[in-house]
Amino acid sequence: MLTHAQTRDRLIARRPAHALDRDLYCDDGVYQLDLDNIFYREWLFALPAPVLPKPGSFATLQIGAYPVVIVRSADGMIRAFHNVCRHRGQRLCATTTGSTPNLVCPYHQWTYGLDGKLLYARDMGEGFDPAAHGLKKVHCVDLGGMVFVCLAQVPPPIADLAKSLTAFLAPSGLTDAKVAHSSTIVEKGNWKLVLENNRECYHCSGSHPSLCRTFSDNPKFAAMSGPDEASAEILTHWKRCEAAGLPSRFTHADDMGWRLARVPLLNNAESYTMSTKAAVAKRMGTMPFNDAGTLLFYHYPNTWNHFLGDHAITFRVLPISATETEVTTTWLVHKDAVEGEDYDLKTLTEVWLNTNDEDRQVVEENQKGILSPAYEPGPYSPIQEEGVIQFVDWYAGLMTGRLAPQPAVAAE
Ligand code: FES
Ligand SMILES: [Fe+2]
Repeated sequence: MLTHAQTRDRLIARRPAHALDRDLYCDDGVYQLDLDNIFYREWLFALPAPVLPKPGSFATLQIGAYPVVIVRSADGMIRAFHNVCRHRGQRLCATTTGSTPNLVCPYHQWTYGLDGKLLYARDMGEGFDPAAHGLKKVHCVDLGGMVFVCLAQVPPPIADLAKSLTAFLAPSGLTDAKVAHSSTIVEKGNWKLVLENNRECYHCSGSHPSLCRTFSDNPKFAAMSGPDEASAEILTHWKRCEAAGLPSRFTHADDMGWRLARVPLLNNAESYTMSTKAAVAKRMGTMPFNDAGTLLFYHYPNTWNHFLGDHAITFRVLPISATETEVTTTWLVHKDAVEGEDYDLKTLTEVWLNTNDEDRQVVEENQKGILSPAYEPGPYSPIQEEGVIQFVDWYAGLMTGRLAPQPAVAAE
């Protein structure tokens, strides 16, 4: 296993614009450092708010060693807690989603309110203080219907993202949406390979026949470097969408940790369907037309998303081990859209179910090749893989800084 210092040395020694060293994609020590320095410290996308439609709705997720439960409380607020009983540590909620009036531990029935307060604990004797045994909180924010959690004691700033994301998402009416479908797959590859694969479309023509009906794989088309700098086609699309009240122009974090932009689909396609037409008859929120393209939202380390005129698709990436990653995809439609009348589930989901499976295959084969001692990091294409270079730079920069030797505390 690579140590802290060895991992940092490998990151510092990496060749710019090249794939990473083998161990950075498979070593258990590096995996633990990724958890400690990124997944336990950054804001992570947890779920779209419609997964929790009413008070008492809950959902669970596993972030490295930490089981977390996210609950919609009686006041409508979404809150997150460590999914660990304060008695002897039982995991409180074992199912992925559910609904309950209170959170009751299955072991000895300690009972917590939806706000995490301990309401009931049988026979705990004199002097037992229920107020000191509420569930431990996890930082949680709902940004326009996208729920993020952070395990750090002090989370990183999120105000800039909150401002941009809520403005961009407002017309998509995520809070007035419902879950049409959800899929969770496990990809036998390191989480960084899953992200890298998502950040380029160099592979799209070879791997994604159904997605390529509607999504351009031309990097020149999608290239953008600022709110006024993009291809002529994208600038025209931004102007048309903005005139209809849709925030659209490329907006990003200073360190590129998140980015937002609305891009058109190919040939005025309306949605990610085989026919290129909308899959859902009722549009999302106040979306003014079907061919608004897709609002792309990335947030490192664990999400990319598409918000279209007729539906939205969210993606959550959670590492399971050095070489396994869980990817959860959720399809959202207007809450009043009725399956069988306003949409057909197969039409809505088939393109991204196919695409996810195709991506799973390329990531798994990528991991298998990297496990070979003969693997040598190759160069990224500066034309096709600029997004991958940017992701790897983000990762290496963050990790190198966080793994830096701490300055010695000066003696008094
Ligand atoms: S461990 Fe939860 S009630 Fe005992
Ligand atoms: Fe792909």
